[in-house]
Amino acid sequence: MNIDQNKGIHAQNQDFSKYDQVKKDQQYQLVEDVDLDSFDEDYVIQTCDMQLFFNGGEAGRKEFAQQLGSALEGIGFAILTGHGIEPEVYENAHAKVQQLFETTTLERRMLYHAERHGSVNQGYFPIKETTIIHPDLVEGWVFCRRAFNLEEETEYSERDYWPEGGYESLFRDIVQRHEKLILPIMQSVLSYLSVDPHLYDDRLTKTNFGLRLNYYPPISKEEDETGAGRMLGHEDVDLFTILPAQDIEGLQVYNRENGKWIRLNAPKGSIILNTGDYMQRITNDRLPSTTHRVSKPADKTIFNKPRISIPMAIYVWEDEILEVLPGLVDPHYEPISAIKFHTNTTSKYYGDDYAVGDT
Ligand SMILES: [Fe+2]
Repeated sequence: MNIDQNKGIHAQNQDFSKYDQVKKDQQYQLVEDVDLDSFDEDYVIQTCDMQLFFNGGEAGRKEFAQQLGSALEGIGFAILTGHGIEPEVYENAHAKVQQLFETTTLERRMLYHAERHGSVNQGYFPIKETTIIHPDLVEGWVFCRRAFNLEEETEYSERDYWPEGGYESLFRDIVQRHEKLILPIMQSVLSYLSVDPHLYDDRLTKTNFGLRLNYYPPISKEEDETGAGRMLGHEDVDLFTILPAQDIEGLQVYNRENGKWIRLNAPKGSIILNTGDYMQRITNDRLPSTTHRVSKPADKTIFNKPRISIPMAIYVWEDEILEVLPGLVDPHYEPISAIKFHTNTTSKYYGDDYAVGDT
């Protein structure tokens, strides 16, 4: 990657607006600036109980769809409870991420350096190299469907994707648990929009995804003084993202109604759900792809602790067509292949040569 990180410290989102494939009028700094930014202390992000969907019968499913749809239409974020995944599962996963990054040598991590495969840049991203537009204080590792032994391939080699340490089986368990939430979420969104709730069932069965393991190391005084943040302000490119609540503060959500940032601290064991660009595109801007970022902790006494997060981005396969859902009037967008949409958007982060056309 050709890194131009110094530009990133003071960059604004609109500096890169030519890459966006959906309408984004909001203007914000990629990194938190406590002197320029203002914060929304009042906005409460809706909590949606998935037990309504799973055990509430038709009335429960309808109520859940209403809660979830209105939360996503309003701010693009919701907090999911009642999803059936025990908090210990996420505690173990977070501990395993810490082990992965802290016990695998840099030399070994670099053997898995990220490369585009289909739409998604998959593999290891060193610190300050998550994108070319901002020197984020995070290391990441992206695993897509092919990185897991999901018994779909006759030939599978764990070491092609993972260092030794029992990582694949633990994270396979996480993605399989999350896969069970994909159709309930999508069916509820479609139902809220008065679209056939099963329209995406086939497309989202065994679909493409990216599980990103994020390790934000402890912040040194020198790094603090550079002005870099932990993760630049961005919108996810996907349909939606399933993000288990983190232990360490920092996630901020942009409220485009008032231009203020919401500090989101979701309860332990809950899942944060947010919509991405694919969703904004197919819903004709009804459900916005919402801006978010990760700041350094306001409490400097926890600068010495690493921060872990494990977002799972849900995509459709590269050859699917993203088109405005039937019944939504006055379409703002032409149909486009997922690979063209995805890579043209994310070439913002990886360089112009990342973009490809239809395959
Ligand atoms: Fe994100």
